[in-house]
Amino acid sequence: ARVVGVLTSGGDSQGMNSAVRAVVRMGIYVGCKVFVIKEGYQGMVDGGDCIVEATWRSVSNIMQKGGTTIGSARCKDFREREGQLKAALNLVTQSITNLVVIGGDGSLTGANFFREDWPNLLEELVATGKITQAKADECSHLNIAGMVGSIDNDFCGTDMTIGADSALHRIIEAVDCIATTASSHQRCFVMEVMGRHCGYLALVAALTSEADWVFIPEWPPEKGWEDALCNKLSQERALGQRLNIIIIAEGAIDMEGKPITPNDIKDLISDRLKYDTRVTILGHVQRGGSPSAFDRILGCRMGAEAVLALMDATPDTPASVMSLDGNQTVRVPLMECVQRTKAVQSAMDRKDFKKAVKLRGRT
Ligand code: F6P
Repeated sequence: ARVVGVLTSGGDSQGMNSAVRAVVRMGIYVGCKVFVIKEGYQGMVDGGDCIVEATWRSVSNIMQKGGTTIGSARCKDFREREGQLKAALNLVTQSITNLVVIGGDGSLTGANFFREDWPNLLEELVATGKITQAKADECSHLNIAGMVGSIDNDFCGTDMTIGADSALHRIIEAVDCIATTASSHQRCFVMEVMGRHCGYLALVAALTSEADWVFIPEWPPEKGWEDALCNKLSQERALGQRLNIIIIAEGAIDMEGKPITPNDIKDLISDRLKYDTRVTILGHVQRGGSPSAFDRILGCRMGAEAVLALMDATPDTPASVMSLDGNQTVRVPLMECVQRTKAVQSAMDRKDFKKAVKLRGRT
């Protein structure tokens, strides 16, 4: 029977628990032994109590919880050779040669490097007498299946990352709440949402909450935007609207690549239009709370597929990512997606925003 390990890494997101549960249960269903690795890569490096065999029951009642019950971390040790050797030893000790990683692009890239280096790591463990040659032969290949858990929806290769839908729910609930008080006092609110360098959350939140304006990194406002914004807001007021909502992505920039901050916009509106303007930074509330039905199902579908991908893997199968493509679950080569995701960022760094949007494109 194959032995599977599952971990969550990087920033948490709603729906990760559902993915872990599906990996454990599908794994057990197809006859695997499944270990959960707590605290992300840090737990893999530390071993001991962090690597625990899961049972059908041990993942009950977690699907409805936000965050990740097995813990997550951004781990420095795993970037060093010493940490990787410790992690490899911990996996080999439990005969784990199938790894499911749920995280963002950095976490998935790390998994792929680890897989590529696996033979060298085993060789070194044998040479230093940490494992026998027989053990190294038994564990000679490490199979990797990734799932993208992130609220940002910034990964090329999947229509939706696990957690983005729930984060959107949190955001629009907050906008709806703000809108009532804004209307009472005829105020303007500038609301900052997360997403790192990706404007997905901001754009969809703006469209679904009838915001007056949105700032996203992929489409910096053109020169003279200050006038256009003020005209738009005053037009809305002239038509009888009692409030204004402006959504700004945390990564918003201008044409020169300079950050645009919520306070820049607040100052502009208060100075020019004299509207009572407030800033609300939603922050980590967006990553919290109960996962939406969409994210629970997404986690289940991806988790089950990840186990099947590992069962099908041969030594030549490259690491893959479970992704959603037109509502179908598909497996895509991990490094292809990571490279495309990186290409988007470098197009943005070059201020070639059209190219960035095209590259991000469908899936
Ligand atoms: O990647 C998810 C995310 O929530 C981003 O939207 C945000 O920029 C970042 O993580 C915040 O990171 P941290 O939780 O380390 O403050």
